Amino acid sequence: MGGRQGSCRQGNCIDACNREIVVARRTAKSARKKVVKSGSSRGSGSTAPQPVSSSSDALKRSRRGTGVRIAPSLLAANFTNLSEAIKPLRALSLNWLHLDIMDGVFVPNISFGPDVVRQIRGLDETLYFDAHLMITEPRRYVKEFLEAGAQSVTFHVEAAGDDSGPLLRYIRRQGAHSGISIKPRTKVSEIRDHLPFTDLVLVMTVEPGFGGQKMIPATLNKVRELVHLREELGLEYLIQVDGGIDPTTAPLAVAAGADVLVAGTSVFGGGRIRQNTRELRKSLSKVS
Ligand code: DX5
Ligand code: ZN
Repeated sequence: MGGRQGSCRQGNCIDACNREIVVARRTAKSARKKVVKSGSSRGSGSTAPQPVSSSSDALKRSRRGTGVRIAPSLLAANFTNLSEAIKPLRALSLNWLHLDIMDGVFVPNISFGPDVVRQIRGLDETLYFDAHLMITEPRRYVKEFLEAGAQSVTFHVEAAGDDSGPLLRYIRRQGAHSGISIKPRTKVSEIRDHLPFTDLVLVMTVEPGFGGQKMIPATLNKVRELVHLREELGLEYLIQVDGGIDPTTAPLAVAAGADVLVAGTSVFGGGRIRQNTRELRKSLSKVS
């Protein structure tokens, strides 16, 4: 992870974030009670999920299935020239940039931290920064990634545990989009209670940690389950799939109901971004 001093004024951001979480935890309890009472998944009053104030269009979902988004994962880009790697994205209407943050503890790999995200933000102010935290204790770092320019922050329920609900609310209160992720062996039931406070559900379609793996087809059953739950609960979250998405698996993921496809190797692979993107889009033309 990058150094923390840069954005952590007086070095107290962990305390500040923890205080937010403690307060959010208290209100979360009463919110849950209200939701159960009213039978509504959205709750009511001041404890209801806050509308997101920034980049809300980025998460609008096309109900006709024509709005499937590709989110290129920077992990597969050429790190010796990130500026060149991200330059073609806008022109290809690839408006999202998926940022995989790995700490070497939650996953057996290390990528980059908030300081790098901030520098990449400086290269392009227009892309939608979609941060995927594969780190233990995400509550210690969420604030820094938001300050570094992330517009959505997704953390793993396996790492956040009881902090998940408060963290989702915290992210929304900061005007960003809240995301929660599950590993291939984690059930949807583990995050069900959090769905009303979630803008983006990330279903890992490989074991997190490395790019270039093969998709695990059974994980798409969770996408179907999340589509069903969204309908049943009257929610609006987007469903994102991550890992092994290529021209063969992308149509399967979209057919299952995925709204956002994270694509590392199949966009940045070999530096052939234009050609790769064309092939990926072509594979989707029959399903979207
Ligand atoms: C894996 C990461 C993915 C990965 C995707 O832990 O979360 O975003 O980089 O890479 P590909 O598309 O190559 O599987
Ligand atoms: Zn990812």
